[in-house]
Amino acid sequence: MSGKAIGKAEASALQDVDVLIVGSGAAGLTAALVLAEKCKVRVLAKGGLDGGSTNWAQGGIAAVLDEGDTFENHIRDTMIAGAGLNRRETVEFVVENAPEAIRRLAELGVPFNAEAGALHLTREGGHSHRRIVHVDDATGAAVQKALLKAAQEHPNISLMPGRTCIDLITGRHEAARYSGSGRVWGVYALNEATGTVEAHTARATILATGGAGRVYQFSTAPRGATGDGIAMAWRAGARVSNMEMMQFHPTCLYNLDVKNFLITEAVRGEGGRLINPRTGTRFMEFYDAERLELAPRDVVARAIDAEIKKFGLDFVHLDISHMPADFVRGHFPNIYEKLIGLGIDMTRQPIPVVPAQHYTCGGILIDLAGRTDLPGLYAAGECTESGLHGANRLASNSLLECFVFGDAAARDILENWETFEAPPEVRAWDESRVTDSDEEVVIKQNWTEIRRFMWNYVGIVRTNKRLERAAHRIQMLSGEVNDYYGHFRVTTDLIELRNLLQSAELIVRSAQARHESRGLHYTLDYPQTDPVARDTVLVP
Ligand code: FAD
Ligand code: SIN
Repeated sequence: MSGKAIGKAEASALQDVDVLIVGSGAAGLTAALVLAEKCKVRVLAKGGLDGGSTNWAQGGIAAVLDEGDTFENHIRDTMIAGAGLNRRETVEFVVENAPEAIRRLAELGVPFNAEAGALHLTREGGHSHRRIVHVDDATGAAVQKALLKAAQEHPNISLMPGRTCIDLITGRHEAARYSGSGRVWGVYALNEATGTVEAHTARATILATGGAGRVYQFSTAPRGATGDGIAMAWRAGARVSNMEMMQFHPTCLYNLDVKNFLITEAVRGEGGRLINPRTGTRFMEFYDAERLELAPRDVVARAIDAEIKKFGLDFVHLDISHMPADFVRGHFPNIYEKLIGLGIDMTRQPIPVVPAQHYTCGGILIDLAGRTDLPGLYAAGECTESGLHGANRLASNSLLECFVFGDAAARDILENWETFEAPPEVRAWDESRVTDSDEEVVIKQNWTEIRRFMWNYVGIVRTNKRLERAAHRIQMLSGEVNDYYGHFRVTTDLIELRNLLQSAELIVRSAQARHESRGLHYTLDYPQTDPVARDTVLVP
């Protein structure tokens, strides 16, 4: 429940939509476009409408489109990367719906690269075939633009940026009675321009809030990836699963000024090699002699981490300069331009890279229709654990998951429309007992602290001791953050700090519950992989 006191009943001015969607990335906008054919939809977004990870995606979207490839190949590759923790029925569902998702995006105007009349397919780690559909090396921006344009033009969709959602509205917030039911009726959201808190209600709510990557000091994710949806769902009573499965991308640019620029896996897919700058060795041959640079991400990230630690390096090199310069510029025009601006010519020089947090595999537990544990609440995209990724996400499977589950959640709501009641009147947010913060520095200090200990203690290689240290710090900070939250008016920074800390707690608790090494969860205390794969499910 929200830490704020809830005041006397007041009519909400924001009850005039059927479905509320939190998040305007690939998952949220896909759901909105399907729902809008039959009902009125409002999409809320923190900051701008293109502030999520979708806009930053580089490599592309995985789909079986080549005659030599099969659904079974894509399913097998997904489950090998996921170290057997995936739910096969989810994997089948997503893989089999991929070609249709690509067809719909092309229809919306996404200008996928094509060659000789067919879509150009690139290759990434863990994929046994070329199957990544892309728009140069900036696929996400093209997808975000097309989805946003369609949503902006749809008369049944209202887009509301500048709203930071704080908590879900449930039976506990009903005005007339204190029903205590777990049903979700919408969200309380901070209007970032006015500083007031609005109650947005609807018959159904979909969380599409993206990941929690910013819980780590080094991450490729945008600033707003603070696990808000996961934390909100957890506080309202929904289970979360496999939060220990945090993916680290092997190749983030190492640069003292530019902290989170990704060098797409497609660079390795098109021939890029990883080299130890001290010894000049192509070191992947010592870690995965067969798949080399195209081994799944957990394997490559751990190999780089091991080289960095063993040789006391700051970074390793990613080198594609042996390929023709035109080929490199043609395939990676955006990365090429970005690096040239930083004084690196990737057609002639190696790129310094380090691993960085990249993707949150765990999240709110959902079924094949995007339903969470709570009636009236759905979720889709990176904030969920659908069973697709298991212990490690296969490259370019996540945008795909957003399209398939955004669509599935929307269709389930429409098919069961008669079961969704109109929302009751809910209590207004009460600020009568809070004041403006007098020490914003507390927020900054705690943000930095969380991100640093999560990187050092809950990173690529874990131990029981490190996890205990992290748990201890989380416990100490929780008191301080809750106290601060209870006394001061909310701001986006404070809301994010509270959610970041909640996400950190869920990650550490999940990591402590897994007594084996599997996929992304690698611990020196339990190096073995158990014969049976089990999800880590946390119950509120
Ligand atoms: P996002 O696109 O992250 O959108 C989240 C939305 O929720 C935003 O609108 C945000 O404002 C909103 N939001 C969050 N919190 C709140 C709140 N409290 N209140 C209101 N709104 C809120 N995947 C691939 O498949 N292929 C790739 O090539 C690829 N490349 C990537 C490259 C980078 C650099 C990164 C970071 C990720 C990449 N990924 C890729 C992963 C993929 O981009 C994401 O998993 C996917 O875009 C997530 O989409 P989403 O809709 O779930 O969330
Ligand atoms: C990349 O382009 O390397 C990112 C692909 C992904 O995260 O799926």
